[in-house]
Amino acid sequence: MSDLRFLALSGSLRRGSHNTALLHALKALAPDGVSVEIHEGLGELPYFNQDREEVPPASVADLRARVREADGLIIATPEYNSAIPGVLMNALDWLSRPAGDSSLRGRPTAILGASPSQFGTARGQLVLRQILHRVQAPVVAHPEVTVFRSHQRFDTEGTFLADQFTESLLKELLAELVHLAELTHARSDRVPA
Ligand SMILES: Cc1cc2nc3c(=O)[nH]c(=O)nc-3n(C[C@H](O)[C@H](O)[C@H](O)COP(=O)(O)O)c2cc1C
Repeated sequence: MSDLRFLALSGSLRRGSHNTALLHALKALAPDGVSVEIHEGLGELPYFNQDREEVPPASVADLRARVREADGLIIATPEYNSAIPGVLMNALDWLSRPAGDSSLRGRPTAILGASPSQFGTARGQLVLRQILHRVQAPVVAHPEVTVFRSHQRFDTEGTFLADQFTESLLKELLAELVHLAELTHARSDRVPA
């Protein structure tokens, strides 16, 4: 099978975001034949407006195109008030529309998250999983990557320090996403034109 390209979204716009740093750590672990592009433009999307879903603003059209071109999505989310940040929900709303033409539908997706609490976004990820289920994006079920006490896992440069266990979880998550993407390709190859 040819090389796989994944698009990664961070649910945080914060400079020094633990979740964006986690995506950079994941990207560095990608095996040969797999590339991860981190998209940092979620803050440029306007608020979702159903009046504009058919002819969307340029920033939305660009993100939709990037999602469609990708073999899969990777979403790192913070946990905000036991759910996901509004900026991520806004992006998912744009991507899920127009009805019948969602760029998320059928898109293999892996999720993960980091937070300074001891739960490491477990509750936020449940919310995200439910949203992705609703929009019919197949989501990697295992491993669940919840990076807890994230504020203790950075070096002085702000680089995320993956301990051996977390590193193996990140590699496993990528391997499972590759597997899901290959299954999805194989299935679409079987669909008659
Ligand atoms: C509005 C808001 C709500 C938050 N709610 C939670 C929460 O419910 N659970 C949690 O573990 N952390 C919560 N936090 C703390 C975030 O997990 C923490 O700020 C984290 O570092 C955000 O991710 P980032 O570093 O990628 O920006 C909240 C932070 C904000 C700003």
